[in-house]
Formats: sequence, C-alpha cells, structure tokens
Amino acid sequence: MTESWSGSESADDAEHADRIVSANSDDIERAAEAALRPRRLEEFVGQPVVRDQLSLVLHAAMNRGATPDHVLLSGPPGLGKTTLAMIIAAELGTSLRVTSGPAIQHAGDLAAVLSSLTEGEVLFIDEIHRLARPAEELLYVAMEDFRVDIVVGKGAGASAIPLSLPRFTAVGATTRAGLLPAPLRDRFGFTGHLEFYDAQDLERVILRSARLLNITIDQDAAAEIASRSRGTPRIANRLLRRVRDWADVRGSGHMDLAAARAALAVYEVDELGLDRLDRAVLHALCTRFRGGPVGLSTLAVSVGEEPETVETVAEPFLVREGLMARSPRGRVATAATWQHLGLVPPADGATLFS
Ligand SMILES: Nc1ncnc2c1ncn2[C@@H]1O[C@H](COP(=O)(O)OP(=O)(O)OP(=O)(O)O)[C@@H](O)[C@H]1O
Ligand SMILES: [Mg+2]
Repeated sequence: MTESWSGSESADDAEHADRIVSANSDDIERAAEAALRPRRLEEFVGQPVVRDQLSLVLHAAMNRGATPDHVLLSGPPGLGKTTLAMIIAAELGTSLRVTSGPAIQHAGDLAAVLSSLTEGEVLFIDEIHRLARPAEELLYVAMEDFRVDIVVGKGAGASAIPLSLPRFTAVGATTRAGLLPAPLRDRFGFTGHLEFYDAQDLERVILRSARLLNITIDQDAAAEIASRSRGTPRIANRLLRRVRDWADVRGSGHMDLAAARAALAVYEVDELGLDRLDRAVLHALCTRFRGGPVGLSTLAVSVGEEPETVETVAEPFLVREGLMARSPRGRVATAATWQHLGLVPPADGATLFS
C-alpha cells in the first residue's frame, strides 16, 4: 500500500487539485468538506482497524482520567487524517488546536503555540514531516517531558529557562511517514495507518454525504460513483457533487445510475476512476512505445506534460492499480493496461510485462 503514495503525492502537487480525481483539495473544496466530516468515531466509515485501536487508546485514557498518548496518523491524501484528529478531540470532550509543519517557521512559533495550550487539549500538527529541524527538536522535549526550554540571551551568556507545559495530546498527520525522523516517530505512543477504502465503504461514505446534502440517490448510482473514486473518500464526495450538478441541470434532480454514468462521462472519469491524463499516458505507453520500457521524460513529453506531473499525479494510482509498472529501464505496460484500453499487445510479446 505504501509504494503508491510514499513517493510524492502531497502538498507539492496541490496545484493539481483542480483535477477531478485528484486526492488533494483546495480552499473552496475544504469548505465543502467541512460540512461532510464525521464528528464522532462511530460515524467514521470504514478503517475498522484504526478505528478500533484508536477507540481503545482514547477510552483507556479516559477511564484512567489521564491524557492519551500522542497519536500519529499516516496515509495518502483524502483518507480522513484531519477528520480523525477532530474526532479525537471530540471524543475526549476537549478542544483542538490546529497548526502544521509549514506554518511553523521557527522553533519560537512552536514554543508560543505550546505554551498557550491548556490542560488536556489536543494539538493537531498537520504535515508534520515538514516541520523545520529546530522546531522538531523542541517538540521532542515537549511531547516527552511536557516542557519547553525558552532560550534567553545570545552567545555565551545565553541560558535556557525551562517552562513546564500542561499535559496535552499531540496528533500528527503525515502523507509521508517515511520522512519522519525516528526520534519523532518514537514519541508517538500510537500510530494509525489509514488504508485506501474498498468500494463498499466508499458507497457508505457517499450515501452518508448524500443524506447530509439532502440529495436522493439510488444505491446503484452510489455504487457506481464509489467504484470510480480511487479508494478515497475525498474523491467520492467530489464526484457526488459533480453528479448532483448534472442531475440538477440536465436530469430530473434525482440521482440514478444513468445520471451518475452520464455525469462521469462528461467529466471523463472512466470505470476505474482514470481521467483524461491517466488514459493519455497509458495510450502513449501502448501505442507509441509498444508498451515500453520508456523513460519517464520521454513518456511525459509525448502527452505534453511535465515529467513531474506524470510522476506525481498520474503514476501513483496507475501503478497501484497494476495498470503501469516501473522497471529499471523505464515505465512498462502490463496485461491490464492493454486490456483496459481495449488494445491488443504486440504479437512478439517481447515488451509485455504482467
Ligand atoms: N471514514 C470517513 N467517513 C466519512 N467521510 C470521510 C471519511 N474519511 C474522510 N472522509 C471525508 O473525506 C474528506 C477528506 O478527509 P480529510 O480531510 O480528513 O483527509 P486527510 O487525510 O486529512 O487529507 P490530506 O492528506 O489532504 O490532509 C472529508 O471531507 C471527510 O468528510
Ligand atoms: Mg488533512
């Protein structure tokens, strides 16, 4: 599961959030998402393992009247890390303070946040892998000893004044757990790994969102949207909104299977959730390069894109779905690629990987 996203899908490709099947979100979308976030653990669909583990961690701490261990949430964009952080605070009946790695430029910024915490609060640090090193070191001490050392003065005359902090729970979120230094990772008592959702769970996400948005949708339409959502609730919710648009403007307002299919055809999202760019890449790979191997930049040029776009935006999902493989000599098509495009692989089979 990790290989498909540990590489590069994250804030770096936020500029591709306008792509309908992007797992990233922009500001406008975040507002739409806020309305759909589950507020309590029991409303949170799927992820049974993480949900169960987290429930134990939280309830055990509450029974003891203590603050729970620090929690690290890792997984690809759009799977529910921010949602879970909010749920943790809600379950504990406490407030949530939100910051993020990129927002903390200096250790002093973090010291200010930490010293303003109140007893039992949850501090959410999004994109924690992007914290600057000095801030990270300050965080180690804060998480372990509930203390920050405020440095006063400069040079030889500088001294550190320890300031003790109230007990708090840090919740870190990262799309790239691999980038976290071991000392930081070790200070989290519990790490939850979010996995891609199966179609059934996504269908439940869609039905739940439809209910909240006051739209009526047939179950088979929800299933159709779910199967094209790349295992990601954020994409499922987005496709649901686009299908609603179609149903309102061109249909009867009711979302049935025909409306779902017609809307997704307009947005060029195919049965597997591939969009135009994904298919262009696969098409070029098969028809221009006989299924590869072909170098990333050559492949990117042939579809008129930057190599980085192909690598970070299209490739992770294609590789995860087995529609493309990476080999030491370049990108190659698999049997599934030819099949998905309805093409016949070259007869000599020399370039065929499966
Ligand atoms: N288990 C779930 N049940 C219902 N809705 C969910 C679930 N997980 C995520 N969502 C929905 O998907 C959207 C995206 O979730 P969220 O913002 O928590 O993702 P994230 O993992 O924090 O993504 P990023 O890495 O981009 O920050 C939210 O609007 C939320 O409503
Ligand atoms: Mg988030």
